[in-house]
Amino acid sequence: MTVDSLTGQVNFFGQADPDSLIREFGSPLYVYNEELLRQRCQEMLELATYESLQVNYSTKANSNLTLLKIIRQMGLFADAVSTGEIEILLAGGFLPEQIFFVPNNAAAADRLLATRRGIRLSVDSLAQLELLGQVAPGNKVSLRLNAGIGAGHHASVITAGSETKFGIASSEIAAAKDLADRYNLEIYGINQHIGSLFMQPEPYLAAAKEFLDLASYFPDLEFVDLGGGFGIPYQKIAGEARLDLARLGRELDQLLSSFVASYGRKLTVKIEPGRYIVAECGVLLGQVQAIKENSGIIYVGTDLGFNVLARPLLYDSWHDIVAYRSGQALATNELQPCTVVGNICESGDILARNRPLPPLVQNDILAILDCGAYGYAMSSNYNSRLRPAEVLIDQTGRARLIRRRETYADLLGTCLEI
Ligand code: LLP
Repeated sequence: MTVDSLTGQVNFFGQADPDSLIREFGSPLYVYNEELLRQRCQEMLELATYESLQVNYSTKANSNLTLLKIIRQMGLFADAVSTGEIEILLAGGFLPEQIFFVPNNAAAADRLLATRRGIRLSVDSLAQLELLGQVAPGNKVSLRLNAGIGAGHHASVITAGSETKFGIASSEIAAAKDLADRYNLEIYGINQHIGSLFMQPEPYLAAAKEFLDLASYFPDLEFVDLGGGFGIPYQKIAGEARLDLARLGRELDQLLSSFVASYGRKLTVKIEPGRYIVAECGVLLGQVQAIKENSGIIYVGTDLGFNVLARPLLYDSWHDIVAYRSGQALATNELQPCTVVGNICESGDILARNRPLPPLVQNDILAILDCGAYGYAMSSNYNSRLRPAEVLIDQTGRARLIRRRETYADLLGTCLEI
């Protein structure tokens, strides 16, 4: 079992191997494979045959500038949730009209800035609609609706249904239209996002159907945006199946053709995948620093604290682990349960509990799979640790630094002495 065999990417690490990458760029290290990134972009572009399908990459999953440029080259547009993401997207060459601003509880200044730049946006509450009307009357706006169906891998990432802060409920549509009229705002789109990570097509399709039914309240739409959430199999070692994109696409096509028939004309249909695009092309490498046994549990101590990868702590998320020594994946014939922990001063700093791993020694390298999405993007400086470097294995197999490791000067850079 190797990163290659699990990701299906021949030479994931290109001309390098985990050992040489850590030697050259330090540990921990995020490593991305360009080929795999492009492949996932292409799969989303081909999701449905509906000709006006627009794929908006959800920048929050990973906002590395080089990756964004590749995603743009592949023909994707992008979603932003903050002015920071807009700045990075513009720096990455996205045109204002290729960016859709989908913030939650945005400040008036952020909305104003976006409209001044010619970036279209959505609002997800009546209060935000009124705010937009006050700061930028006469604009086009999309309403983020909550059609009542949510889905996701954890309660924290379900963003539609009854227990969420997101969206305008169907019962508020009349009030939203009144507000839009008052401020001369043209409702030109509706959008939704039901949550993050579904592995079966059904919840997405059911939510899309409910949502598209709401389009009949808005005769002048230019687009409908069905949101993201397309899952990837995190339990590859156990043989977890992939999301059946072919079936999802077929059924989406059917849904869209009956929608077009009832709405009376074709609209642009946007989708907003984040994780699906970037998760699997990213592997996090880290080093075993110390091994100990405590009350019968083997603790594998690493430099992979929750400052580097927050998902296991936040959502109890599973990431497959492959162990390497001297550039070679270790054999997996004699596994023992280990608890893999980081170097953060909290007992909850656990990357994997009771994980069957080969016998490890200090300086072995752990490759944590599927870390391209919500990995670096959610990393922090907690315990005053430096955010890691990011490396891209380009299409020629060369390892190229695409973000340098932070320095101690970066840590102090924002502090002012008084
Ligand atoms: N559109 C909107 C409005 C969103 O809020 C999100 C994700 C997406 C699209 C993209 O969702 P995706 O295709 O990546 O599932 N940190 C969590 C995931 C949070 C997702 C937040 N919103 C995790 O690590 O699992």
